[in-house]
Order: sequence, then C-alpha cells, then structure tokens
Amino acid sequence: MDLLSALVFGYVLGSIPFGVILTRVAGAGNLHEIGSGGTGATNVLRTGRKGLAAATLLLDLAKGLVVVLIARAIWPGSEHWAGLAAIVGHCLPIWLRFRGGKGVATLMGVALGLAWPIGLAFAVVWLGMLAITRISSAGGMSAAIAAPIAAFAMGWPHYALALAIMAALVLWRHRANIQRLMAGTEPRIGKKQA
Ligand code: G3P
Repeated sequence: MDLLSALVFGYVLGSIPFGVILTRVAGAGNLHEIGSGGTGATNVLRTGRKGLAAATLLLDLAKGLVVVLIARAIWPGSEHWAGLAAIVGHCLPIWLRFRGGKGVATLMGVALGLAWPIGLAFAVVWLGMLAITRISSAGGMSAAIAAPIAAFAMGWPHYALALAIMAALVLWRHRANIQRLMAGTEPRIGKKQA
C-alpha cells in the first residue's frame, strides 16, 4: 500500500507540466507546436525566453527532488520508485494526453534526492557533454546513463535498478533525437530546430 501511495504521489507531482504552464501564462506560445514539441526547458528556450527556460529547468528539477524527499519521509524505502513514477509523470502526463517531456531535469532532481553524489555525477556528465557537444539531448542522455552506473559504483546499488529504468525511459523519449543525432541533424543549443 505504501509503495502504491508513493507511486501515485510521484506520478501526480511529476506530471505537473511547468514548461507548458509557464510558456502559456507568459503568452510565449504552445510548446507542443514549437521546436521538438517537448515540454522541457530545452524547448522552452526555443521560444527565445531564457528566463522561462531557466525557471522550467529549476521547477522540473525541483519536482523530482521534492518527490524523493517527501516519499522517503512518508514511505521510507520507496523513494526510488516514487522518483521513477515522477519521471513517468513528467514524460507521460495524463493532463496533456501523455504528451510530456523527456525527463532529464526531473531525473537530475531525483538523483540529487536519492543521494547528492549521484546528482553531482549526473550534473558533471550533463554539463560536460553539453559543453563539448552543445547538444542538449546528448548531454541529457549521457547523464541519464551515468546515473545508475554512479549509484552502483558510489555505494547505492539498491537505487541502481530504478535509475536504470529511468534512464531507459529517458532514452526512449529521446528516440527522435537519437535518429537526428545519427543523421547529424540534431540542433545545437542556440540554433533553431528545423
Ligand atoms: O531534456 C530534453 C533534451 O534532452 C532534448 O530536448 O527539445 O531538443 O528534443 P529537445
């Protein structure tokens, strides 16, 4: 019952589409009709509103962190599954007919909440790949893959399976990006998406 409560809580909080809400309130358009159609900070950035993109990044990250911290306090031992539910909620929000984001910022929040060194490893890989490639999806996917490896290697192997499933979900959400990366057409940050 505890696990079910944690999963429902994680899904509901994770499914709050901050990017969509902020861009709509700011009159900056409908994210589903912009760029990749994603609801995350990268696509908000394509509206040209850097502040909105930064706010989306922080709020999407915060919801992953809050889900894990609250789940750990109320249903200890289920925090990683609540975190997984938050990623599912972010990627497949029922309120938007399951058209959500790709889970990267929320996964960083979940990783930080589970154990800050895992979150730090995530951030280092994310920012490092972003600096090298200037491609948001390359940074996000690399960091998602690094998270379960970091959990395993740094002393939290009990979180590795849930983080591996989260990484798989993030990769699945990036399948169009992967095709563009292989075709060499994935846009770099600051460039408009074709
Ligand atoms: O976090 C999302 C990012 O990895 C890719 O976003 O809009 O370029 O598909 P987008």
